[in-house]
Amino acid sequence: MRDSGAGLDPQGAKRLFDPFFTTKPQGMGMGLSICRNIISAHGGELAGANNPDGGATFEFKLPVAVEEPIASK
Ligand SMILES: Nc1ncnc2c1ncn2[C@@H]1O[C@H](COP(=O)(O)OP(=O)(O)OP(=O)(O)O)[C@@H](O)[C@H]1O
Ligand SMILES: [Mg+2]
Repeated sequence: MRDSGAGLDPQGAKRLFDPFFTTKPQGMGMGLSICRNIISAHGGELAGANNPDGGATFEFKLPVAVEEPIASK
């Protein structure tokens, strides 16, 4: 997902996915931590980086499931 917001704060970049890390006055700091945990639990990866022209992009990768053939009796 790509946005055109303020971009990631370089100070906080390393802690983005830490639980309870937030820069918002009313933030819980759980959003990205939960997202990364769910994606990791499925064997995937989630990362975020700043765009060269402003804003940030978050990308995730998930492994493709290979469908098992239905066992014939
Ligand atoms: N798209 C974004 N652009 C810039 N900074 C972001 C972006 N997404 C997250 N961040 C930074 O990462 C921090 C952590 O985000 P996270 O979603 O984990 O928590 P939060 O949004 O602060 O609170 P909440 O628990 O309500 O989601 C944010 O406080 C903000 O500083
Ligand atoms: Mg959030």
